[in-house]
Amino acid sequence: MVITVANQKGGVGKTTTAVNVSAGLALYGKKVLLVDMDPQAHSTKSCVVGAEKHPISLYDVLMKPEAKFKEAVLNSTVPGLDVAVSRISMAKLEPALVGQIDGHFKLKDAMEEIRCSYDFILIDTPPTLGLVTLNAFVASSYLLIPIQSSYLCLEGTDDLLDTIDKVRKVANPHLQILGVLITLHDTRTNIAKDVVERIFNVFGEKVFKTFISKSVKVEESPAYKESIFTYAPHSIGAIQYRKIAEEILERAKN
Ligand SMILES: Nc1ncnc2c1ncn2[C@@H]1O[C@H](COP(=O)(O)OP(=O)(O)OP(=O)(O)O)[C@@H](O)[C@H]1O
Ligand SMILES: [Mg+2]
Repeated sequence: MVITVANQKGGVGKTTTAVNVSAGLALYGKKVLLVDMDPQAHSTKSCVVGAEKHPISLYDVLMKPEAKFKEAVLNSTVPGLDVAVSRISMAKLEPALVGQIDGHFKLKDAMEEIRCSYDFILIDTPPTLGLVTLNAFVASSYLLIPIQSSYLCLEGTDDLLDTIDKVRKVANPHLQILGVLITLHDTRTNIAKDVVERIFNVFGEKVFKTFISKSVKVEESPAYKESIFTYAPHSIGAIQYRKIAEEILERAKN
């Protein structure tokens, strides 16, 4: 099952969710691959040791026909979780894809080789709706959309939904929203309740029952290259991300 984590709004918790949901699914015994499509390489930096010394990244895999997908895959610090690594040179990918006739299909085609080796493949995307993100949409069957629990949370939602519709029509009719995850939630603010209500009004039952609270432990764990499950196993963040992994396993059955 291939799940893209996407929202073109920056800093809404895509990477944090991609890493911790991947780790959560691995905790449940699933074999998981996290594909880091963001040139910022935050997913890679959050849970892979020594990736910067590895000579091959997803850029090489997608742009050089002789490179094999597996060559960009490294072990993470989480047992059961591999990462297809990104680095800053991935910033060249977007302009390189423009004008290529199969520009939308590069990731899907490249992943054929490894797709069957994993129970779940999660793709972390940059905060844009450009060709790099479109490659992820074309390569997946499901979208996980993190939405930050804040006043402007739904800004840009129309563009995101339009893009999903277009991808369905043109390149990938199977694409559907697996779930919308409310992140960086702070129940102490007066607007929190109103924000949640507005998100439910737009996405209804697609919204996961569990929300991810704003928490220092979740923010700190990438600096130690750990998921929340080893960095602070009893924290609220670990409990909530475990519940999200369970909700995803439940939705995956249907
Ligand atoms: N639940 C949380 N509690 C506290 N801080 C969080 C939480 N989730 C994410 N953060 C922090 O918020 C910032 C943005 O999160 P993250 O990098 O996951 O967002 P993103 O959507 O991937 O950003 P970008 O659009 O730049 O890729 C990071 O500093 C991260 O550590
Ligand atoms: Mg990110």
